[in-house]
Amino acid sequence: MIRLDKVSKTYRTDKVETLALKDIDLHVRQGEFVAMMGPSGCGKSTLLNLIGLLDRPGQGTIEIGGTPLKRYADRQLARLRNRTFGFIFQRFHLIPDLRVIDNVELPLLYRSVKGAERRGLAQAALEKVGLGARLDHYPNQLSGGQQQRVAIARAIVGQPQVLLADEPTGNLDSRMGAEVMDILLKLNEEGTTVVMVTHDEQEARRADRIVRVFDGQLVA
Ligand SMILES: Nc1ncnc2c1ncn2[C@@H]1O[C@H](COP(=O)(O)OP(=O)(O)OP(=O)(O)O)[C@@H](O)[C@H]1O
Ligand SMILES: [Mg+2]
Repeated sequence: MIRLDKVSKTYRTDKVETLALKDIDLHVRQGEFVAMMGPSGCGKSTLLNLIGLLDRPGQGTIEIGGTPLKRYADRQLARLRNRTFGFIFQRFHLIPDLRVIDNVELPLLYRSVKGAERRGLAQAALEKVGLGARLDHYPNQLSGGQQQRVAIARAIVGQPQVLLADEPTGNLDSRMGAEVMDILLKLNEEGTTVVMVTHDEQEARRADRIVRVFDGQLVA
């Protein structure tokens, strides 16, 4: 499904060059739940961003569904990203001025889905994460765990093949974290591929496989 071959990434600023990833070989199979672990600054978010086509590698190749990304023009790439991936972040990234239902509808706006259909899909996604009764709330009227569940609904509303989650439970207490984890596992059981960054060994053990990153490299 997703294949990285000898992928490296260097960040350059005025003064420093950081080799964030070096020679990464990684194959994520369809339907897998992969947990990614490693110390702060080792390159986990960088790797997730490359997998999710939010950034391009310096060296190496990335293939999605067998097609190397180099074959895609920028517009095609944006479309592929929008259709293939759903993103979940540690800090939820909800829009405070929009109601829950409108936050969840957002990704569909970029696909020009019509109003009534948008609403229906967003409502279904919110019901799936147990928030069918919170459609008209604003994000700051919800608990942290509920906000993250809204973010999950937003990530799955377009029915992506792959969910990429960067420390989705990092800002939650253990009970709310476990709820979010349960939802991700259920989505995975239903066929969604999941790649999740976590600092929690217990959570990581619930995945099919743990990928460990150290200093920009994968370690066995
Ligand atoms: N936009 C950027 N510009 C310059 N350097 C960056 C940028 N993003 C990340 N880096 C550097 O690349 C390295 C990897 O960062 P990354 O965010 O991928 O780490 P991480 O494993 O996700 O860490 P954490 O667990 O703290 O989230 C770090 O040394 C970081 O300082
Ligand atoms: Mg990170």
